[in-house]
Amino acid sequence: MYLLAIETSCDETAAAVLEDGRQVRSNEVFSQSDIHALYGGVVPEIASRNHIAHVSRMAERALHTAGIAKTSLDAVAVTYAPGLIGALLVGVNFAKALAFALDVPLIPVHHLRGHIAANYIADPALVPPFLCLVISGGHSQIIDVRDYTDMAIIGGSRDDAAGECFDKTARVLGLGYPGGSQLDVLSRGGDDQKYPLPRATVADSPYDMSFSGLKTAVLNLVHNAAQKGESLDKPSLAASFTAAVSDTLVPRTIAAAKVLGRQTVAIAGGVAANSRIRSDFQRASAQAGLRLLLPPPSLCGDNAAMIGCQGYYEYLAGARGGADLNAYATKPISACGLQ
Ligand code: KG4
Ligand code: ZN
Repeated sequence: MYLLAIETSCDETAAAVLEDGRQVRSNEVFSQSDIHALYGGVVPEIASRNHIAHVSRMAERALHTAGIAKTSLDAVAVTYAPGLIGALLVGVNFAKALAFALDVPLIPVHHLRGHIAANYIADPALVPPFLCLVISGGHSQIIDVRDYTDMAIIGGSRDDAAGECFDKTARVLGLGYPGGSQLDVLSRGGDDQKYPLPRATVADSPYDMSFSGLKTAVLNLVHNAAQKGESLDKPSLAASFTAAVSDTLVPRTIAAAKVLGRQTVAIAGGVAANSRIRSDFQRASAQAGLRLLLPPPSLCGDNAAMIGCQGYYEYLAGARGGADLNAYATKPISACGLQ
């Protein structure tokens, strides 16, 4: 079965062709990050306009790379939630028109379910159940993946996402956009003990987290130093910040896996590319006797292959989008599925 997937939820215009769910025949990503870097972050209206300019070209390229004619497609999958509403609408309307023209099913895919599915591509033998920490620019959630299309939120950030925190910290340290990956590189030479930063807990919610206090602590530290004319050890601040994020994410995920009796832990989303978080997970999962899955960094950030992979399982479960399929800026991972 050949499936074309479209992803336009933020600032990547992406298209991919999947064969029988997990075999990636092509995975084309046009990143708009250079365009948004001028403004220090994603400008939603500019993202939408660029998706319009590039989505058709990316779909053609994905088909060309895969060596598949569009008439050979069996389904079209598309990210319909969550994300920037204008950006999502471009992908949804493109996919809707293409599915209608080809007379094939249209499969709506939740973006975070797609991130989780990157693990199926990375490990062809992976089958649910497993526990997955999804850490992206907009979300930080511990998800119990009971089955391919049956998921429950075990815990998550009550305020900012980990990626948002990385991006704001990077910006205040004078790094360009997108900041998370640059902060990762900067932190590698630093002392992670040098700057004491908070690790918040949420009362009576052991798997929930909060990052807004950490973000404020970094901003105050940088502004106070500037007012006093003191210079900061930026690599050590980046390392101390990353340690605080990792100390929040890793123990909660491992504890949740143990309590739920899951043997396998996976991570997903753009922040899952972070080298410190990956190595902390490797150590903690080995100590706990859990199997750990780390998708390659290329599958952690936004791409359409992950949407196509999840789209295949949504298709098998009977999910279909009609001509009235809408896009949603927010939608819980557990609330989607059959349309
Ligand atoms: O999943 P993603 O590509 O897009 C969303 O769905 O939001 O995640 C983007 C986020 C951004 O906040 C970016 O700064 C962060 O992932 N990110 C990283 C790294 N690479 C990307 N954060 C920390 N370390 C990295 N190496
Ligand atoms: Zn994403």
